[in-house]
Amino acid sequence: MAVDMREITYTFAALRDENDIKQLLFKSQLPTDGIISHLKDFILAKSTGGIIGVVGLEAYDGIGLLRSLAVLPEVRGKGIGKELCSRAIAHAHTQKINELFLLTTTADSFFAKCGFHKIGRNLAPAPLQASVEFKSLCPDSAVCMRMQLSERAIYFPREILTLKSDVPGAKMWGIALEKTLLTFFEVEPHCRFDRHNHESEQITMVLEGELFFELDDETFSVKKGEVIAIPSNISHAVFTRDKHVKAIDAWSPVMPQYVRPNHALQATLATHRPCGKRA
Ligand SMILES: CC(C)(COP(=O)(O)OP(=O)(O)OC[C@H]1O[C@@H](n2cnc3c(N)ncnc32)[C@H](O)[C@@H]1OP(=O)(O)O)[C@@H](O)C(=O)NCCC(=O)NCCS
Repeated sequence: MAVDMREITYTFAALRDENDIKQLLFKSQLPTDGIISHLKDFILAKSTGGIIGVVGLEAYDGIGLLRSLAVLPEVRGKGIGKELCSRAIAHAHTQKINELFLLTTTADSFFAKCGFHKIGRNLAPAPLQASVEFKSLCPDSAVCMRMQLSERAIYFPREILTLKSDVPGAKMWGIALEKTLLTFFEVEPHCRFDRHNHESEQITMVLEGELFFELDDETFSVKKGEVIAIPSNISHAVFTRDKHVKAIDAWSPVMPQYVRPNHALQATLATHRPCGKRA
């Protein structure tokens, strides 16, 4: 199969991909059970001819299982496996997973190159021991490997930074380490974050449009390429006028409501009083 490496795209799996994923895993002699429950955490490599690689993540409250990494035999050895693995690690980070585990019978040296270390299978945490993969999908002889995400630098390719629509009037993503958070917001015109304050220091840079910061004694208009720095616990409101706005913000300490895993984000933004449309 001729694949132009420049045309490979990486995307999250959709329901319609389930059968193609199963076929690829079957061809690669990997188990196919339990995929559907975790499909939203599967990442695909696609070329014009369809799916050429896959990797899956099972998330269990702070720990994760990387599974189902497979690349079509005819396009192996071109770096696709490594690209998929690094996307699975970045996605795990966005899901607040700190420890990532896997079982493999065939590719322990591949995973060692990706940063995993061998551990005794009995050392994997209980939720993983109870997972389908641990219980029945892989034989006892499979090697168990582990990665601690907080001990390494993580690269986030564009497609992992998916915008979430949980904030009315805005879309955002957030990436956090222990003490620092970076967020990216796209805010609709005529939108307002009501007056609030927070312990976190906030430094905002506008990338596009114009964002207004209303403080006690004055309102600042922050335009493209400009920055506003707000110390801890300073009361402020934020609003847009007639322009869409794109902005990045650095926060310290981390605002936890901006780095919830997908399933837990909704409603948690209330502490930051998300914006509502102006009448
Ligand atoms: C394992 C697999 C996903 C690797 O995909 P790939 O696209 O061929 O891997 P890459 O081209 O990104 O290889 C990255 C590096 O790992 C090495 N590598 C690839 N497969 C390897 C393997 N099975 N064992 C050891 N090293 C391997 C490559 O030589 C390359 O080394 P380099 O960076 O020093 O050049 C692929 O071989 C596969 O689908 N295997 C069958 C399914 C499987 O065993 N999956 C893992 C179990 S969950």
